[in-house]
Amino acid sequence: MSRFYITTPIYYVNDAPHVGHAYATVNADALARWHRLTGDEVFFLTGTDEHGQKVARAAETNGVTPQTWTDRLAPRFQGAWADLAISNDDFIRTTEPRHRRAVQQFLERIYHNGWITKGTYRGLYCVPCEQYYTEDELVEGTLCPVHRRPVELLEEENYFFRLSAFEQRLLDWYAANPDAIRPESKRNEALSFVRGGLKDISITRTSIDWGIPVPWDDRHVFYVWYDALVNYLTAIGYGEDDDRFEAWWPAAHHLIGKEIIRFHCVWWPAMCMAAGIEPPAHIQVHGWLLVGGEKMSKSSLNQIAPGDLTADYGVDPVRYHLLRDTPLGSDGEFSAEGMTARYNADLANTLGNLVSRVATVVGSKCGGIGPSPDPNSRLSAVAAAVVSEAVAGWEAGQPNLALEATWRLLRETNAELEAVEPWKAEPGPAVQAVLGSALEVLRIVSLLALPAIPATAEEIWRRIGMDTSPADARLPAALAWGAYPGSRPVLKEPPLFPRRK
Ligand code: ME8
Ligand code: MG
Repeated sequence: MSRFYITTPIYYVNDAPHVGHAYATVNADALARWHRLTGDEVFFLTGTDEHGQKVARAAETNGVTPQTWTDRLAPRFQGAWADLAISNDDFIRTTEPRHRRAVQQFLERIYHNGWITKGTYRGLYCVPCEQYYTEDELVEGTLCPVHRRPVELLEEENYFFRLSAFEQRLLDWYAANPDAIRPESKRNEALSFVRGGLKDISITRTSIDWGIPVPWDDRHVFYVWYDALVNYLTAIGYGEDDDRFEAWWPAAHHLIGKEIIRFHCVWWPAMCMAAGIEPPAHIQVHGWLLVGGEKMSKSSLNQIAPGDLTADYGVDPVRYHLLRDTPLGSDGEFSAEGMTARYNADLANTLGNLVSRVATVVGSKCGGIGPSPDPNSRLSAVAAAVVSEAVAGWEAGQPNLALEATWRLLRETNAELEAVEPWKAEPGPAVQAVLGSALEVLRIVSLLALPAIPATAEEIWRRIGMDTSPADARLPAALAWGAYPGSRPVLKEPPLFPRRK
């Protein structure tokens, strides 16, 4: 058995979650669910990033203290994830005492190792990014490249992390771990950033007090990113439970959006090295969901609330669309038209139709009792090919490829039914064979698609008369052709996915 520790970024609580956050969280959830199915021990972490200037300003704008504000906003993220059937094992808030302890210990260690020094910093700061930019990184002279709004000139005395001392060690680490950052293009982005030369970075602030106090100098609080990254350690017992920490670290999989590569692929590994622990094993970078070509973002007006979508389409259709339509690593355009088209094509027509059809014909030709699958069915070869492709897709962290392969099996099964037309034939072995095989396909598809559409997988499982739950199956054994037992009642119930206009 192996261990799979997967994390999402922890989201800023300056505003409510939108579908862009849902995209990241659903991808992490699907991968967590896949690994549980294969028998791995999984720890899936998400949470909220609650300190820093951006959150403090949001609180101020709303006329409440930062703590009141974060206490109000964190449950909105928790609620959104509950609505989307997110199966996280923990939810970390950076204002929790356990996190303050971990951050203080971790940074104290780095300080004692000699990687933190005092100095003065003057620079151009974007508050929504919580990041300094150099002049040549700005667009149109004065604007942040992510938010396209003016940066602010800040000057403060603070502590610096000696990032520049880690250039060669980072380059060595990338070279020794070619798969640590995926996809390749994002690895190259991190690599060329390091090759371009690293500057020391300021990691404390005296200008605000909404942060974790620096243990050796209480006039300062840690810069929000230096506090945030440590969440990945806090949740697995850093500094408090060494056995637990060693069980899960460094075998982490950090899933992150492409705008935070520098923090995760450069700063974070260097911070780990400075503190004397291994850098994380895997960083998987994903692209953005765009609306009309622009990043869906808290600071623009193009946000879509996950709850509005799930209320309209249902939870599994939203999850399926997010996973199926945007390859992990690329940007994707989000639109109601795209969502509806995917729903009708894959869920209403291909999957929903097969489930209804099989139940109807088993009802009319087999007295409602599912026959067992045909060991020599043409579909068994298709299933074998699809299973290996889908498994490879899930293992590689490419849900869209896994789902694309899985739906090919569904389409082939619909085509087989259309070719044989069991609804026109006399009851008998030929009808039993094709229906038994279609039921077997539904069993296998319930397993392959479970990480994406968990409630639907359970529902299909129930309707075809399987015991227990697909989540209790053990892969890969359960994916072999022929395990549908037959002689089970097949339930004819309303369509899983009524067609939408
Ligand atoms: O950066 N498309 O928090 P954040 C896809 N607190 N993913 C999107 C997205 C979009 N339009 N918008 C947001 C922070 N995301 C820090 C992280 S981690 C130690 C600290 C997702 O609230 C994506 O995963 O700005 C992105 O990286 C994350 O939300 C950033 O959320
Ligand atoms: Mg952001």
